[in-house]
Amino acid sequence: MSILDSLSPRALAAPESGIVEVVNYARGREGLLPLWVGEGDLPTPDFINRAAMASLNAGETFYTWQRGIPELRQALADYYGRHFGTSLPMENFYVVGSGMQAIQLSVQAITSPGDEMVYLSPAWPNIAAALEIAGARSVPVPLQFEHGKWSLDLERLEAAITPKTKGFFINTPSNPTGWTATHQDLRDILALARKHDLWIMADEIYALYYYAGGRAPSFLDVKEADDKIIFVNSFSKNWSMTGWRVGWIVAPAELGQVIENLVQYSTSGVAQFMQRGAVAALNEGDDFVRANIAKATRSRDILCDALIATNRVQTLKPDGALYSFLRIDGVTDSRKAAIDIVDKTGVGLAPGTAFGLGGELFMRACFLRDPVQVADAAERLSRYILGL
Ligand SMILES: Cc1ncc(COP(=O)(O)O)c(C=O)c1O
Repeated sequence: MSILDSLSPRALAAPESGIVEVVNYARGREGLLPLWVGEGDLPTPDFINRAAMASLNAGETFYTWQRGIPELRQALADYYGRHFGTSLPMENFYVVGSGMQAIQLSVQAITSPGDEMVYLSPAWPNIAAALEIAGARSVPVPLQFEHGKWSLDLERLEAAITPKTKGFFINTPSNPTGWTATHQDLRDILALARKHDLWIMADEIYALYYYAGGRAPSFLDVKEADDKIIFVNSFSKNWSMTGWRVGWIVAPAELGQVIENLVQYSTSGVAQFMQRGAVAALNEGDDFVRANIAKATRSRDILCDALIATNRVQTLKPDGALYSFLRIDGVTDSRKAAIDIVDKTGVGLAPGTAFGLGGELFMRACFLRDPVQVADAAERLSRYILGL
C-alpha cells in the first residue's frame, strides 16, 4: 500500500506533459536551440516591468479586486475595441492568473463531473487534462490532415455530441496545428452550439498571430449577445510575459459573481503589481506586439521554407499561431525522434505524442525567435531529415 493509493484518482490520473518530458531530458545543454515550448526568446519589455516595479514601490501589496483592477478591465475593453472592433464594457472582462487558469475556471463554471466537452485535436495537452482533473470528459474530434493542410470536418464535430455534451472547446488559431477557423467555420460551429444548446469555450490567445494580415477571424465577429461563449486569453504570448501568469476571461456580465467566487476560492486574485504591468502591456504595447508578429512571420517563412524544401516533410506554412507542426517521412515514434533530434542536432522539438489523437506522428517547433537562430535550427533539422 503506497501513500499514493489514498490520493484522488483524478489527481493521480493527470498525465505528465509529453512536452516537459523532453525538456527535462535535455534542459541546459550547451548550444541548444529550444523550439519545444510555446514562448519567444525575448524577456518582458522594460515599459511593462517598470509599471510593475512602480506599483510595488508605491506599496500596492495588499489584497485586491477579485475580478481585476478597474484600470486593467478598462484597458482590456479598449484593447478589444482597437483589435476586434467591439464595444464591450469592462464588466465583460475578468482578470485571472494565466490563460491556463482562465481555462480551469471556465471549465469549473461550465461543467459538472461526467459532462463532456468536445475539442478539436491535435490540441495543446493542458486542455484535455484540465477537463479530466475537473471530472469532465474530454472528447477529441480529429481535424482532417490532407496535403499538409488541417481542416475541420463539421459532420464529425456534430457526431461527437451526446446527451452529456456540455460544450465545445475551440482553439483558433490552433496550438499545435496552426489551423485557423474561417468565419464560415465559426458560424457553422456556433450554429451547432445553438442547435444543441451548448457552450463554446473559445481560446483565441493567438488571434493576433495571423499571417494573412490583420487578426484571425474571431467568435466575436459572428456571435450574438445571448450566445453562450466564454473566451479565455493570456498576456503570455503577445507581450513576452509567459512567466508572469496573467490572463483574462471575456464572458457575459451575468457570470460576474460566479467568476468572482471561483477566483476568490482559488488564487483570490492576481497580484496588483502584475496587473499594473498588464495595464502597461495593453495601453503601450501595440508596437511591441507588432514587432513580435513581424519576427514570427519572418521566422515562420525561414523554418517552413527550409523544411518543405527537404521534400521529406509533410507540412505547410501555418495560417496562424506560433508553430510548425511537421510530419517527417519515416518517423514512426515522435517521442523517440524528439530525443534523437535533440541528441544529434541540439534542436529541441516537442513530440506529437504530447498533442493527442491525430498528432502522434508529428513534431512541433515554436518559431517565435530571432530569425538567425531559427535559420540555424532549420539548417540543422534539414540535415538531420535528409540523413534519415
Ligand atoms: C492554446 C493555448 N491556450 C492557453 C495557453 C495558456 O497560456 P498561459 O497559461 O501561459 O497564459 C497556451 C499556452 O501555451 C496555449 O497554447
